[in-house]
Amino acid sequence: MKLCSALLLCLAAALSSAFVISPPHMWTKLILTHHWPNTFCRTEQPACHPNISYWTLHGLWPDKGIDCNSSWHFNSSLIEDLLPDMKKSWPDLLNPLSASFWKYEWHKHGTCAAKAASLNSQHKYFGKALELYHKLDLDSVLKKFDIIPSETYYKLSQIEGVIENFYSIKPKIQCVHPSKNADFQILGQIEICFNPDFTLMDCEKYVTTEKISKGDWGNLIADKASGFSVCDHDVPVYYPLLP
Ligand SMILES: *[C@@H]1O[C@H](CO)[C@@H](O)[C@H](O)[C@H]1NC(C)=O
Ligand SMILES: *[C@@H]1O[C@H](CO)[C@@H](O)[C@H](O)[C@H]1NC(C)=O
Ligand SMILES: *[C@@H]1O[C@H](CO)[C@@H](O)[C@H](O)[C@H]1NC(C)=O
Repeated sequence: MKLCSALLLCLAAALSSAFVISPPHMWTKLILTHHWPNTFCRTEQPACHPNISYWTLHGLWPDKGIDCNSSWHFNSSLIEDLLPDMKKSWPDLLNPLSASFWKYEWHKHGTCAAKAASLNSQHKYFGKALELYHKLDLDSVLKKFDIIPSETYYKLSQIEGVIENFYSIKPKIQCVHPSKNADFQILGQIEICFNPDFTLMDCEKYVTTEKISKGDWGNLIADKASGFSVCDHDVPVYYPLLP
């Protein structure tokens, strides 16, 4: 009898720990992507508003899944209290007066992030993205360590070094390559990655065979489409001044 109940306990423990393991399609990393408006607008001319001189949000992307629930419609009245901050921190650089960028990000990434209870509403998703963006305060950190727009080129390792030293994690930094043999690249996007509990993590930590998931392909395609790719360590980095 004793043995039996011990076995039952073990079985119960084994079962419950099996349920703690996250479901197979659950994301394991969130990528908070910042872009530099001036660089973004170089790839999107002419309909762009590059007159913003700070890093703005591009999105909060889980590492798995694209367009996870097409019937979960974006509704800006659910995030009305966040809109003033959204307009400032997450502006649509192409259509400053429209909500279409947020709608796009919600459908493509938010509905997948929402598989986690911590992000399972539009208010939680957009609110958390803003919260992480302000907590990181990447724009101020770069300025504080003299990484500022300049006519003089940077080494990629200088920019990386500031971020790695300050946050103790590795970012993913993306550039626009103006032409195949250009002698410089243009700083465009900085990604900072988070664990599911919103603590910081290295962006490249889980680059394994899992990398070829649907979500990653989606991001790769998106990166290509917008002209961004990972910056090259051997090419000088141009951090463009405002026009
Ligand atoms: C940027 O320029 C556009 C168009 O000229 C203007 O509507 C918008 O208010 C400007 N934004 C900022 C932050 O100055
Ligand atoms: C998709 O979103 C709708 C609307 O919020 C919800 O009722 C439905 O349960 C969601 N489906 C899944 C698979 O999460
Ligand atoms: C948007 O959300 C508000 C508040 O919950 C609701 O009253 C409204 O009907 C929703 N609009 C749409 C188009 O679903």
